[in-house]
Amino acid sequence: MIFNLNLVNFRSYENESFEFNPGVNLIVGPNASGKTNLIEAISLICSLKSFRLKGGDLINHQSDFFYIKAIDQFNFQRELSYHLSDNHLSKKYTLNHLKIKNRSQQRKIPIIIFEPSNLNLVNGSSEKRRDYFDQINQNLFKSYSRILNQYKRIIVQRNKLLKDPRSQIHDFFPWNIRLVETANLIVEKRLELISIINQKINHVYNKIAKNKIYNIEVEYKTNQNIKNYANNLLKSLEDNFLLEKKYSYSLFGPHHDDIVFKFDQREAKSLASRGEIRTLILVLKIIEAQLIEENNQTYKPILLFDDVFSELDGSRRKYLIEYFQDYQIFITTTDADIIIKDFSKNTNIILLNN
Ligand SMILES: Nc1ncnc2c1ncn2[C@@H]1O[C@H](COP(=O)(O)OP(=O)(O)OP(=O)(O)O)[C@@H](O)[C@H]1O
Ligand SMILES: [Mg+2]
Repeated sequence: MIFNLNLVNFRSYENESFEFNPGVNLIVGPNASGKTNLIEAISLICSLKSFRLKGGDLINHQSDFFYIKAIDQFNFQRELSYHLSDNHLSKKYTLNHLKIKNRSQQRKIPIIIFEPSNLNLVNGSSEKRRDYFDQINQNLFKSYSRILNQYKRIIVQRNKLLKDPRSQIHDFFPWNIRLVETANLIVEKRLELISIINQKINHVYNKIAKNKIYNIEVEYKTNQNIKNYANNLLKSLEDNFLLEKKYSYSLFGPHHDDIVFKFDQREAKSLASRGEIRTLILVLKIIEAQLIEENNQTYKPILLFDDVFSELDGSRRKYLIEYFQDYQIFITTTDADIIIKDFSKNTNIILLNN
């Protein structure tokens, strides 16, 4: 939880301070009043990650630096600043005035964001789905980021070699071994996550969508035989060398895999209504919160709902508020009238004006 936030030259904010509640914080304002900017600042100071464009864009256009300060539930002071000089961006993050490494997971407050672009998860590209699941895995398993980055580097190097007209099949042997080893770890962790989600998903979904119940399943889709994945992938690489050479691109591995959502064994993509997709995403966020909580004993995740809350129907909104009553939650809306009845009297309302 964070109770205090000070923004200096962060996006549209020149110098502004906010006080927050431990429970629900409703951020209300017209379009372009700074709601998403505020959500983004909370995400950044807690988890050091933004869900929008990075770097220089975060600094107010009239300035060459921004500064964010927050006080958390243990009275820790978190400070983050970006300075831009000569096209070079330098970042500084401190906790009680001590410098913290960007990569260190320690003392980060986990964030769960639900925002409009998440709604493309089911119908959008497979890359979005892989990224989404990989992001959860990065929060859950310490080594996952390292493995994923290693895999990306291997693909880049291997693609370079494929492009090289002088390269021959025997040059690829060490790269294929490395690719298969890392790919195997990635797929193992993705399958593990999907299996955990599958154990929870029906229970949570059917609790929210009482009127129409499905048997929901998340499925991992790969063109390799999953039972003997490593050997199969290695064989695909060896058998298809000429094809890969022709395209100068690595055609096999988890960077081509997909995750499919099934409602009663049919693909949600072609069957689910918009409301059902919204509910499905919401269910994934709830499960994400459960998993993070099981994994991080120090900080409960903070929930950020940007623009999506008012579009849920009344009963789903009610469930959500009940479910997340022990969490700190930030909800943005342009029209408080629609949703104000869902909240209790002690909801903290933050009014933003243009
Ligand atoms: N680096 C920046 N410097 C100055 N202004 C910025 C910067 N980045 C964004 N803005 C401006 O901040 C304003 C508020 O943006 P924000 O996305 O927070 O609005 P919002 O309240 O979420 O609106 P909506 O209801 O349309 O989602 C916008 O007018 C945007 O152009
Ligand atoms: Mg917005």
